[in-house]
Amino acid sequence: MHDLSKLWSVHLYHYLITKFNFTKNTQNTLDYYLIHHNTRLSGLFIHGYHSPQFSQNYHPSSPRKPKPKNTQNMASFASFTAPSAATAAAYPKTPQLSAATKPPTHISHHYSSPAGHRRRTRQPLHITCDSTAPNNTPVPDNHSPTSRRDLLLGLGAGATTALTLDPFSAALARPVRGPSIEACVRATAGDQTFACCPPSFAGVDIMDFQLPSASEPVRIRRPAHLAGLDPVWLDKYKRAIKAMRCLPNDDPRSYIQQARVHCAYCNGAYVQADDTNKGLQIHYSWLFLPFHRYYIYFYERILGKLIDDPTFALPFWNWDHEDGMPIADMFKDTESPLYDPLRNPAHQLPTSLLDLDYNKRQPAVRTKEEQVRVNYAVVYNNMVSGAKRRLEFFGAKYRTGSAVPVRQSSGSCENLHNPAHIWVGDSSRALGEDMGNFYSSGRDPLFYVHHGNVDRLWNVWKTIGKFRFDFDDYDYLNASFLFYDENAKPVRVKVKDCLDNKLMRYDYEERPLPWRNFQKTPASSATVANIFGGEKTANAAEAPAVELTPLTEFPLALDSVVSVSVARPKKSRTAAEKEAQSEVLVVYGIELQGDKVVKFDVVVNDDPANPSGPDKFEYAGSFLNVPHDSMKFATNLRLDITDLVGDIGADDDDELVVTLVPRVADGPVTIAGVRIELQN
Ligand code: C2O
Repeated sequence: MHDLSKLWSVHLYHYLITKFNFTKNTQNTLDYYLIHHNTRLSGLFIHGYHSPQFSQNYHPSSPRKPKPKNTQNMASFASFTAPSAATAAAYPKTPQLSAATKPPTHISHHYSSPAGHRRRTRQPLHITCDSTAPNNTPVPDNHSPTSRRDLLLGLGAGATTALTLDPFSAALARPVRGPSIEACVRATAGDQTFACCPPSFAGVDIMDFQLPSASEPVRIRRPAHLAGLDPVWLDKYKRAIKAMRCLPNDDPRSYIQQARVHCAYCNGAYVQADDTNKGLQIHYSWLFLPFHRYYIYFYERILGKLIDDPTFALPFWNWDHEDGMPIADMFKDTESPLYDPLRNPAHQLPTSLLDLDYNKRQPAVRTKEEQVRVNYAVVYNNMVSGAKRRLEFFGAKYRTGSAVPVRQSSGSCENLHNPAHIWVGDSSRALGEDMGNFYSSGRDPLFYVHHGNVDRLWNVWKTIGKFRFDFDDYDYLNASFLFYDENAKPVRVKVKDCLDNKLMRYDYEERPLPWRNFQKTPASSATVANIFGGEKTANAAEAPAVELTPLTEFPLALDSVVSVSVARPKKSRTAAEKEAQSEVLVVYGIELQGDKVVKFDVVVNDDPANPSGPDKFEYAGSFLNVPHDSMKFATNLRLDITDLVGDIGADDDDELVVTLVPRVADGPVTIAGVRIELQN
């Protein structure tokens, strides 16, 4: 209960101080609880946050609570009469309910690290700076408020009014106006807190962002594995990063301050400008792409400024091309300012290819060809077949007043980018530094290069086909963030000014898109054919049955493979109907603790005992959480299955059998349910 008590403390704390105007003494006490995480505020739950599943006395090593769905005998199947009747109508070849069902596949919460992941004693990177402070000394927070208490003392009537508004009313324009300039507190990750606040914006003039002059040279970002072959450019890049590391720590352009930007926006340091009782989070929503575009835009210009080269461009990690899949050599040179010692050493070998289907401590054993194919499949799923429309590609609409724990859904572009964080970070560390946690990922030069590719793929997506354009929602276009520019001046940027990167005077070198027309193949398992509509074979009667969990048993803790039969809103759709509306599979109410790695795959009409990987028709997508703040949160996973349904020959079925396959569970995860909807 240790972690949970901390979570409840955090929620309770926010709630009490905002709702009930606690006295300073009470707040001090609550601060104490927060800081020491060693108490339980039992018996008090915050409306909307409490979930019975999550509050079970959970410990990864404790025995599983018996779940009704673990049916090992025929009698239990009586409990899914309704779904089975419907399913029988949908499938002429209904799942056989074999008495000899095999035990559900369990996912273990304990893994032993494979040999080869062990290496230790990290040598801290040594950079000799000619002057100024060393780059790694701790910096005190520049902000005056040191806790929520301090910042909330300044809350006026305005904030109270905001509390009464319906957070999702579309009638009101409420773009997220970035962080409150007064409010920044220590960020959280795991059991720790971190100083992540950039130099304070309070009391200083904040300029509105202006696009650079059209006479500025266009910076051309090149793939890292090719750019690194150019010694002149590489020398500039290293000199620039070194200069950044050598800036005084209180310079907002310094290496450490740049890294803090990410931490502040992602690990609970900032609150929203218009609604200071709500946190600010730029992942899990439509803010993801524009925020990171601006972040690396300023980072690149700072680097250029530090070496006095207005043409300087960052490279991008071209992981959607076979040749770009390993970490580029320049980042692996331990003497280089581009090196970060806090990475998974096993992934810095020349032969290690980024795994876009990475299952953390259970790495897949694949040949190079297989890994390349899987990676192309993952890119295809998240850029082409599973990203036909804006909501699925960009992520949920996030407006001022949306509570941070209700992150509606990440876009597929964000989902596509997640595995690299976990794969690069050092998984032997509890928090996965540097890349494996949002609080620390900005400390690795690879972060900005990884995000270069994400940013490039945003552009590429818009060229792929119909319906692929930016949101024109007022609250999207006017959402804003705060940064420091290359002259160390604070700037307020709006999303609407970053939609055309050419106007920002940078662009990408064109690259082939080998994943563009990826050909998926059917799952090979005979079971799939037997159960889900393939040719019946002579021994069909002996085929393993799919053990279905009734939807009524949700919400449930996802600690073993779960299959559920889900009704489709419409079957036998025409090509025109399919084009007018996508069929979207929604795994909703995914609840977990923000600082835990959790991954599960979603397959449709597949053999639960042998679920397909990303290159198969049956695979719909994956959920992967990159650790950030230690708050509990809930989100949804939206997967476009329009193509999938046709590929598996299920167009005329009333229902689909959706299987959730847990792959990594560093903490508990519960799922509220699964549904299928049609979407414009
Ligand atoms: Cu803000 Cu790749 O994360």
